[in-house]
Amino acid sequence: MASGKIIIAIDGYSSTGKSSFAKLVAKGLGYIYADSGALYRAVTYFAYTNGFIDDAGNIDKENLAKVLPRIEITFRTNKKGDSVTCLNGSNVEKYIRTSTVSAHVSPIAEIPFVRDFVNVMLRRMGQDKGLVMDGRDIGTAVFPNAELKIFMTASAKVRAERRLKELLAKGEKATLQSVLENLNQRDYIDSHRQKDPLTKAKDAIELDNSCMTFEEEIEWLNNILVPNFNLKVEYSKEA
Ligand code: DC
Repeated sequence: MASGKIIIAIDGYSSTGKSSFAKLVAKGLGYIYADSGALYRAVTYFAYTNGFIDDAGNIDKENLAKVLPRIEITFRTNKKGDSVTCLNGSNVEKYIRTSTVSAHVSPIAEIPFVRDFVNVMLRRMGQDKGLVMDGRDIGTAVFPNAELKIFMTASAKVRAERRLKELLAKGEKATLQSVLENLNQRDYIDSHRQKDPLTKAKDAIELDNSCMTFEEEIEWLNNILVPNFNLKVEYSKEA
């Protein structure tokens, strides 16, 4: 049985509940949680607000490549204890979760130099292990030697309903149809890009959480963690 701190890589399609699950797991283990999608979203927000993406969605890659090394993306913990994404020191958490950023993020995440830029930051976070990271290529490309890899799935209907609920709660205008279209479009681009496409790692364990509560997901995980790693997640509703 392995012991000590490990890296848990959680990958899967959009809105499969990866972040909520990863946060609960990190909190329950006293590990760091890292949302890799937030970095791609922050780059997209930067590119969009600085004119590197036009209204038709064309990306000025040449100039984006020149300025990218000068931007800094960090995570900070706010007063409520939540991790927030900062771009050059400013909290951009609210702005990176909009439908506009969602609409442009997959084409940005397809660009090899963007992926290289993000991967350097992601790998730095795993230096001391004790990390739960969610994304699309964490178990395949970022941490191919992660001790535990989970691939999350859920039915399209469940995923679209979850995403719609989130957007409406934030006061955004969206319909089930528009959300479903964005999810399908992103999943297609994410799993068909040339560099590090979204795919289940050979050694990943699949978790279909369509009909599961958080408590059941943690129970499922503990059935793997306890015997294999001597680790146990304490379930807490307030993650
Ligand atoms: O997890 P999310 O929906 O916030 O991710 C936003 C986008 O970022 C997603 O459509 C694809 C991209 N992404 C990626 O390509 N690789 C990752 N490891 C994480 C996210």
